[in-house]
Amino acid sequence: MITGNENTDAELYKPSRVKPVAGFNEFVKNAVDVIGNLASSIINFKDDEEFQSVKNGEGKIISYNGNKIAVYRDDDGKLFKLNPACTHIKCEVAFNSSEKVWECPCHGSRFSITGEMFTGPARRNMENL
Ligand code: FES
Repeated sequence: MITGNENTDAELYKPSRVKPVAGFNEFVKNAVDVIGNLASSIINFKDDEEFQSVKNGEGKIISYNGNKIAVYRDDDGKLFKLNPACTHIKCEVAFNSSEKVWECPCHGSRFSITGEMFTGPARRNMENL
């Protein structure tokens, strides 16, 4: 197109072939559904087998009703539940047991056991569940 030549693949690479606005609405709807499902499945959670696998003073990612949850249990047995998606660009955090913090393996953000952001590049706290 730039050189003025015809190309049989022109339609395939035409910039206007993608309708980002229409796709964006569907993306937002799906994201809202996922967040809603995660929230509703956590609201009625029971301290059942999955959660009981987290011992006092331990943190780990568990699967609960098809969702992943970052769970920490303090020395008194109290559970702290977080969305394990780092607030930078959504890599899954991992628990550092020696420092008792959640760390993101992608770019190094660190969060407290309650999800408070310690270091970036993330700029927001983790989501409490
Ligand atoms: S995705 Fe976690 S620090 Fe970048």
